[in-house]
Amino acid sequence: MESIAEVNDWLSRFYGGVAVGSMDIPKCGGLSLYLIEETYKSLDLNSAVVSKFMDDPPYWIFCWASGVVLAQQIMAGQLQVKGKVVVDFGAGSGVVGVAAALSGAKRVYCCEIDPLARQMVGFNARLNGVSVSVVSSMVDVDQKVDQILVADVLYDRTNIPLLDEIKTYASEVILADSRIKDLVVPGFELYSEVSSCSYPDFAESQEFNAVRLYQFKK
Ligand SMILES: C[S@@+](CC[C@H](N)C(=O)[O-])C[C@H]1O[C@@H](n2cnc3c(N)ncnc32)[C@H](O)[C@@H]1O
Repeated sequence: MESIAEVNDWLSRFYGGVAVGSMDIPKCGGLSLYLIEETYKSLDLNSAVVSKFMDDPPYWIFCWASGVVLAQQIMAGQLQVKGKVVVDFGAGSGVVGVAAALSGAKRVYCCEIDPLARQMVGFNARLNGVSVSVVSSMVDVDQKVDQILVADVLYDRTNIPLLDEIKTYASEVILADSRIKDLVVPGFELYSEVSSCSYPDFAESQEFNAVRLYQFKK
């Protein structure tokens, strides 16, 4: 797709009543992304659109709670990316990768399996005046990586084994997760818990408002 107007045409075809517009992410120093507009709140919760949304969600129309937390920490300098080669794995909108590019990372890769999300990462990078490399798999990352950032990729528990593969690509992995309370992955150490929510906030159950941060270091 060439433009956000085309993205919105696509959304209205498959998810009538849903559109994206640019908006600032809270406490992110002006980082903006194309995300779902408020109008979706008027959708009938029993409608076919909402059920399609649940079955086949376009993840890139929200920033997930973990992406919000990592982006805020990066923009605040609490999570250091300056001078590093960074991968935002499971980028969705690209919120974490864009924050890293804005905060002085040497190079940023956004890795995403969803082709439309990969296009949205491109739109969102341009919106913020930064450049990121968009790839569909870690094998396409053509440089030694310092740090991999993984935000809310464990929405599906079958993704847990991906962490074993991700670990092989960098000496440090930061995993942020709002989904699994009892997560135990060998080598990953829980070091912080932060209260947050998706942006825009679609009022998920409170149980998903705690973002746990884990670090793997070689
Ligand atoms: C819940 S979204 C989180 C997006 C973003 N990190 C955030 O926090 O807003 C999870 C994303 O991971 C992507 N994903 C799932 N499995 C993946 C894989 N094997 N490789 C790359 N991306 C993947 C999905 O397509 C989706 O966009």
